[in-house]
Amino acid sequence: MIEHPFIAQAREAVGAAHVLTQDLAAYAVDWKEKYHGRPLAVVRPGNTAEVSAVVQLCAQHRLSIVPQGGNTGMCGAATPDDSGQQVVITLSRLNKIRAVDPANNTMTVEAGCVLQTLQETAESVNRLYPLSVGSEGSCQIGGNIATNAGGVQVLRYGNTRDLVLGLEVVLPSGEVLDLLRGLRKDNTGYDLKHLFIGSEGTLGLITAATLKLMPLPSAHAVGMVAVKSPALAVELLQHMRDRMGERFSAFELMSHAMVALTRRVFPALPQPFAQAHDWYVLMEVADGGADAALTADFQSALEQALERELVIDVVITQSQAQARALWELRDNVSEAQQHDAPNIKHDISLPVSQVPRFIDEVSAELASKFPGSRLFCFGHLGDGNLHFNLSRPEGTDNALWLKKNDAVNDVVHAAVARFNGSISAEHGIGQQKVDELPRYKSALELEVMRAIKRALDPLQLMNPGKVLR
Ligand code: FAD
Ligand code: MLT
Ligand code: ZN
Repeated sequence: MIEHPFIAQAREAVGAAHVLTQDLAAYAVDWKEKYHGRPLAVVRPGNTAEVSAVVQLCAQHRLSIVPQGGNTGMCGAATPDDSGQQVVITLSRLNKIRAVDPANNTMTVEAGCVLQTLQETAESVNRLYPLSVGSEGSCQIGGNIATNAGGVQVLRYGNTRDLVLGLEVVLPSGEVLDLLRGLRKDNTGYDLKHLFIGSEGTLGLITAATLKLMPLPSAHAVGMVAVKSPALAVELLQHMRDRMGERFSAFELMSHAMVALTRRVFPALPQPFAQAHDWYVLMEVADGGADAALTADFQSALEQALERELVIDVVITQSQAQARALWELRDNVSEAQQHDAPNIKHDISLPVSQVPRFIDEVSAELASKFPGSRLFCFGHLGDGNLHFNLSRPEGTDNALWLKKNDAVNDVVHAAVARFNGSISAEHGIGQQKVDELPRYKSALELEVMRAIKRALDPLQLMNPGKVLR
């Protein structure tokens, strides 16, 4: 077979070892193994200039580009189509820490740095990079920025968007847009970096970023509580906020079904309570003082919650190992579902006050329309962000279940719209929700998005079929 001329030119640009045309399976499928593609090639540039050169070659040959980071995304946004004509550009070789500036509380890093490495880099200078997600051992900061990742500490520190001060981006033309500023104040016109944050690789390739660093807490306290209902969990959230103030870092809701499945798949994970309860909340507080003082405050707030009957039972961890084990239980819920069966996944946000009524009404509707289906509800309740995943009835066929995808989405997303929520809180649109987006955004909002896309990517080469059609 005659090789596409792009391949030889790409080899020239980045070195033959970094243009892959065989054994591409790992780059052609998403984490959930729902989307499968067939790239023409996978190119691994080693620096910004090489990214720019490869993008120019793609433009020259009118080959579309799929940026890929750690490939842990949840909506097929980093998976190529099956045309055999798309080039996956993976950023993993751009993994240098360019600068750490503790006095400015910033670090400037390349897009392929793994999130956990950045957390460790920050810690090495007594600072915190607070983005924290279950995939932090493999997702990359470029992917985090391109998806505006959320995670378990948004309650205190905000989304990725709130943690980025500057960006370096290779535009679809191959030009390098240098927005790498470490400034907290800069009102010199449109703040262009925000266009690329959350754009899921559709406007350009992020090659580096200047990130905010926070004070590194010296004390942590972690606890899990059992609650009767999501309504009481919301009351508890307010109570804990009032008592703990800005020390309050995480508030993660998990249904009994979610915890039971996770423990069934990973039996070594802890069983926090001897007796089963309907709902659980995992909480963390942190500050710059001593563990003992913080734990005493946390304990007293939880005792008050017990007195007010907001919670049924409480476990406060007594060691870092116990705290880690509880977090492992939370962090493994996605893996557990992946082992169990393919599910119809949702990543929705609602006003926090509406979450309990949403859960009650939509759970009942799903149970009546899809008898025997299993609902796994968990999420970042502090941010009004629920993962509301529906799995097939035990013992039924996976493929048959996945045919119900649109019908299930209709129920969940129509309810989200009724409650003034969003169909994507943190995972993005990708290819999973691209056809649903027009139902939940106004024609004008979509047209403004398309106008931006046309202005930056007139040849429509950046990650086509994702976010917008
Ligand atoms: P990829 O999956 O490789 O790519 C994601 C998107 O970004 C694609 O559109 C891709 O084209 C684009 N992209 C990647 N790199 C670049 C770049 N350099 N320039 C331009 N575009 C780029 N997400 C959350 O928000 N919160 C969570 O709590 C959370 N928990 C998770 C837990 C597990 C176990 C798993 C598997 C995933 C979880 N995720 C979570 C989803 C995922 O980890 C995040 O979306 C993450 O930010 C994706 O990063 P990545 O490097 O893997 O990106
Ligand atoms: C999480 O909160 O664990 C992530 O967003 C991943 C998921 O929803 O599966
Ligand atoms: Zn999440």
